[in-house]
Amino acid sequence: MKSDTTEDAVLLEHVTKTYPGVEQSPRGAWLEWRGPALWLRNLLGVVRLTSNKAPPVRALHDFSLRIQPGEIFGLVGPNGSGKTTLMKLVAGLLRATSGTGSVAGTCLSNTREIRRKVSYVSTTGWMGLEWPLTAEENIRFFATLCGMPTPLARVRTEEALQAVNLWEDRQKYPSQLSNGMRQRVILARALLFHTPLILLDEPTVGLDPVHTQLLLDLLRGRLSTTGQTILLTDHQAAEMEAVADRIAVLNEGELVMLGTPGELRAVLKELTVIEVHTEEMERPAALPPPLVLAAEHIERPGALSVRT
Ligand SMILES: Nc1ncnc2c1ncn2[C@@H]1O[C@H](COP(=O)(O)OP(=O)(O)O)[C@@H](O)[C@H]1O
Ligand SMILES: [Mg+2]
Repeated sequence: MKSDTTEDAVLLEHVTKTYPGVEQSPRGAWLEWRGPALWLRNLLGVVRLTSNKAPPVRALHDFSLRIQPGEIFGLVGPNGSGKTTLMKLVAGLLRATSGTGSVAGTCLSNTREIRRKVSYVSTTGWMGLEWPLTAEENIRFFATLCGMPTPLARVRTEEALQAVNLWEDRQKYPSQLSNGMRQRVILARALLFHTPLILLDEPTVGLDPVHTQLLLDLLRGRLSTTGQTILLTDHQAAEMEAVADRIAVLNEGELVMLGTPGELRAVLKELTVIEVHTEEMERPAALPPPLVLAAEHIERPGALSVRT
């Protein structure tokens, strides 16, 4: 089927992405060291990626979506629901196993051309900053590395650092910046190229509420001046409500809800989710009491999570 490649910022039609299986060897090594300040346990495990023997992982299944130019579009879903996979497909970093689509008018299969049309920032992108360079040098270095002529790189670097409120701190090294500031340095990199799409994968992870709000305000402001389309992910819906025009909710690689924040609130208003975390409790020996529908251990040893 031929896609309409002229109108949408992002168009996905019946896209499926399956990864080869990941094999976890049972022969995981065991390391335990009790030092005065560190207690490491189970540090080493033997993991073989992309094994033919392990079952394949279906990260996205029959996924269809249209995003209009100029929209701030939010992807929300629990860990492992396929948000990053979707972002990487739209960024031209992965190829779909099946399905069609386009990004800013370019066919999904033309990944090389798509990569020119998107600026992509991943969750822990700031770890990739060059630590011996200042914030300003980091941005300018990146611009030049991507082939931007030096005079333009200088202008765009200032513009980007001003936009993320870091111009005053431009002489500081990453080690002198807080995580929130480092996150904004990385965001500045995404603002350099005025691409049709900006993709931000969990941009508020690790940020305090004040910096989260600053970053979301910045995105809103940016959009009103450049008209770029912004696609961002988060594992919590609350922040998205404040910033996104529309939100898609993913679960296990499928689209489970799509709408404006108001529309989603209206659908969900009857639903109450109560999550109870307790410390140092044993799993109940008898059946849970009638009101508790499910009780399960969560990751922390000794803690119990109860879903009603
Ligand atoms: N490179 C990979 N190889 C195998 N499985 C992967 C790979 N990347 C992601 N997955 C799996 O695909 C599913 C979706 O992952 P991901 O897109 O990272 O979800 P999210 O970003 O919502 O946490 C998960 O089950 C994850 O384990
Ligand atoms: Mg992710």
